[in-house]
This record gives sequence, structure tokens and C-alpha cells, in this order.
Amino acid sequence: MIATAVLNVEKVSKTFPGQIALDHASLVVNPGRVHALVGQNGSGKSTLIKILAGYHRADDGAKASLLGKELDLVGGTGGVTERIHVMHQDLGLVNSLNSVENLALGRGFHTGFLGRVRWKDENARAKVHLATIGANFDTRIPVGTLTPSERSLVALARALEGWDDDGGGLLILDEPTAAMARLDVTHLFEAVRRIRSRGAGVVFVSHRLDEVFEIADDFTVLRDGKVVASGAVADLTHESLIELIVGRAIADIGTTTHEHAGEPVMEVRNLWGAQLEALDLTVRAGEIVGFAGLVGSGRDELPNLLFGATNRAAGSVSIKGNPVPADPHLAMCAGMALVPAERKRFGSIGHQTIRENVSLPRLRPLMSRGRLSRRLERADVAKWADRVELRPAEPERLFETLSGGNQQKAVIARWLRTSPSVLVLDEPTQGVDVGAKSTIYGLIGQAATEGMGVVVCSSESEELAAVCDRVIVLRNGRAVAELHGSSLSAESIVQQMLR
Ligand SMILES: Nc1ncnc2c1ncn2[C@@H]1O[C@H](COP(=O)(O)OP(=O)(O)OP(=O)(O)O)[C@@H](O)[C@H]1O
Ligand SMILES: [Mg+2]
Repeated sequence: MIATAVLNVEKVSKTFPGQIALDHASLVVNPGRVHALVGQNGSGKSTLIKILAGYHRADDGAKASLLGKELDLVGGTGGVTERIHVMHQDLGLVNSLNSVENLALGRGFHTGFLGRVRWKDENARAKVHLATIGANFDTRIPVGTLTPSERSLVALARALEGWDDDGGGLLILDEPTAAMARLDVTHLFEAVRRIRSRGAGVVFVSHRLDEVFEIADDFTVLRDGKVVASGAVADLTHESLIELIVGRAIADIGTTTHEHAGEPVMEVRNLWGAQLEALDLTVRAGEIVGFAGLVGSGRDELPNLLFGATNRAAGSVSIKGNPVPADPHLAMCAGMALVPAERKRFGSIGHQTIRENVSLPRLRPLMSRGRLSRRLERADVAKWADRVELRPAEPERLFETLSGGNQQKAVIARWLRTSPSVLVLDEPTQGVDVGAKSTIYGLIGQAATEGMGVVVCSSESEELAAVCDRVIVLRNGRAVAELHGSSLSAESIVQQMLR
């Protein structure tokens, strides 16, 4: 007897004004299996998930069942069922509330006499629950003050809450690992395996293909809203999966070095932060310097320290001899640009158009006779949309309607366009698909060739090895190694990070 599928959806389409995001897509998730849902940026993954969660309605004709019971995706009741738990790509947390309150948002608080919230119980419960996925931070501080990785854990904990002990049901994780430290990914995978062993079905979205091979049993590939392949992960190779996703083989990301780095553009002397200790750094024009390190090594705070978005405990930063005060606006005036890791919070204005988001930091070249020329602005933004392979490349669309990876491309375009003397990028390809990654690496390389000094902070050692001329490894706040030339590889970076 064939076990009833946890989820069976057929002919799911979704038309947004001017765009078909899903086109007769189907997906079957079986009990006790992890199903990877993969595809390029904008291929429709999150849209399908949002339909299942009841956030969007599917176009007429969609059919679906959950554990053998019919699901009405067209009427929009997908998410009403308690058997579907979702961790969304944008996490859906309220930053001003703490972890306990965020965990309670979905299900409501446990109340006692006269409906009073039992805070002690709530706190204890949240602590225990978070601890099972390796999260040991203060549950009473606003989640906005947590690190991105910690925030991901809160969202994960919420999706994992109230999971029936007897199994059954569907857990959906939309790029849960995009902002997670590797150790937290390990905890996430443990939780996923636990849930799978109880007979639940899990949908897992990630652009990191090694994760797909590590955790998933089955896969479905979306391209332009259509399912182009589906099957068992065991039948795939890394290369065949890339070809299915991108629709073509992609060339190996070649390592380019910029041997002829020019004059120093940025000097950092004795820089201290909350974790970073006594960093000295010289970045030359035309050079790409990478920073590696675990969460808490100082790597994750360095971009904001350079840009002056977090307080420097001590030390100085200068660009071309001019001091850069600890103030983002003044840092920009001094010639620095930062592509931040959290595009939603710091990198963009969701309810404005792509045009406005991209052009805003540098309007001067778009002025004509003292006024902003819409014609020049449109042409310029269209050029940048093309350069970063924005999909769809429509400058008048609202930024928030772009898929996650395309939002990231737009934020990169926004800051590259300012041609700063020093470009700092924090997790530049977070949420970006395998094809567009090499485009972004190419743009970073080109920025260096044009004479910018570039600093790349990343948790992906392959990325650092591929794009950087040299990589500085931070451990416990200190620079402990500098790798370049033949000593620079993804493996040597990881070795130094963990030593
Ligand atoms: N609210 C909306 N209005 C208009 N178009 C939208 C809206 N939401 C999504 N889209 C479009 O639907 C398409 C699919 O987007 P979706 O977010 O599902 O992609 P995705 O596969 O999750 O990509 P990513 O890997 O970048 O997260 C995209 O082209 C996107 O621009
Ligand atoms: Mg998505």
C-alpha cells in the first residue's frame, strides 16, 4: 500500500499583475521525507509556500490535499490548517517584541486566572523550546537586537512549536539557513531529522546545494514558475542539479587576482568593537580583501564598525588620508558604501519602487537644469538592473514585490552605482541563486578593476576564496591569519577559523 502523501498539490498557478509567478506547478511531499524545493531567484518557490500558508490565493484550477484531506488553495484557506507550519523567508518576526512574545504571536499566550498571561510559564517554556535547537540567548530582549542567526532560530522555534508528538503534518522552511551560522544549521538539521523520523513531511528551500544533498531525500525544481524536474536526490549530482536549476551548465567561478593593487585607499588603525580587537588594516585601490570568521569572531560586526553604524570602542578609519567618523552619513560622504547583510532592515525601502531604491544614494548625475531628470534616472536604473540581472527588470515595480534574491541584487546595484572609493559588502550573495552568484562575483571583481578598494565579509568560505585577493581570518576578535595566493582556499579558511 502506498502511504498517503502529506501534501499533494497540482496545477497551482498564480498571476500577479503583469506576471505569472506560478504556472501549473505540482508538488508531492511524502511522509518521513525531506523535499527540497529549488530554483533560481524569482522562480516561484516563496509564492507556492505563501499559497500553502494561506497568505496568497491560487488562481482557479488548483487542486490540493493535505494528509488525504482536500485543501482549498483558491479560497485561500491553506494556512488555516494546524498541520502546516511555516518558517517564512523574511522570518515574519516583530523586532520590537522579545522571543517569548514572538513565539506566542501565532498561537496566543497561555493564560491563567482572569485571563492573565502566565509570564513565568511563558518564559520557561520558550527557554526550553529554544534550547532544543541550540539557542541559548536572552529570551527577554527585543528580537531586533539579536544577531541574524539568532533571529532565524526564533522563527524556526516558532515553526517547530506545537508539533504533534504523533508526527503527521507538513513543515515548510523557506531559506531557513540563509542568515544562519553553520553551527545553527547543524541544530536546524537535527530538528528536521527528528521531525522527519516522526513521519512528517518537510519542504526545504535553499540556494546552498550542499545543504540539499545533506538533508533532502526528494527534490522539485522550479523554473519560471513551472516544475521542470522532480525525483530523488540520490539520482542527482551537483552538476546535474545546477543544470536543472539554471537551465545550462555554469562555468566554474574562476579566481581572479588583482596583482596591481594601487595606492592605499583605506587605513584602519587599532579598531576595537564589542568583539573585534585591535584590527589594523590597509586596503589598496583595486584590491579585494575578505574577512572570514565564526559568528562572534568580530567578522559580523566589522562592516558596521567600518561604516560607523555601530559604536567603535577605539580606533580610527580613514579614506585617502581623511578620517572617517563613526557616522554612516559621514562615512558615505568620505567615500565609503556598505551593502548590508540585512537588506530588509537596512538596505532598502520596501514600499518604494526599484528605481527610487537604486537611484537614491546618488542623484547628482541625474540632475538636469537643477531638477531630477526622470528620463536620465530611468535609463540609469535600467542599465544597473541589467548589470545585476534583476528579474523582472522593471524599474517601476515596488521593491517589496521582488523575490528575496532579486532584492539582494537591487541593493548591490544601489551601492555599486555610487562608485565609492571603498566598497564594503556584508554577506553579498545571501539568498542569491547559483547562476546570479557568479554575476555578482563578476561585478565585485569589476569594481576592483575600476579602482575601488573592496572589503567582503562572508560566512561562505568558497565565496571568499573565489572573489578575494587575500582573506583575513578572525578568531575571538583577533586577526589570526592572512591567506593569499596558493595558501588561499575554502579549506584553508575553514581550518584557520576553527583552529
Ligand atoms: N506581491 C507580488 N506582486 C507582484 N509580483 C510578485 C509578488 N510577489 C512575488 N512576485 C513575483 O513572483 C515571482 C516569484 O517570486 P518568488 O518570491 O516566489 O520567488 P522565489 O523562487 O522565492 O525567489 P528567491 O529565491 O529569490 O526567494 C517573482 O518574479 C516576483 O517578482
Ligand atoms: Mg523566495
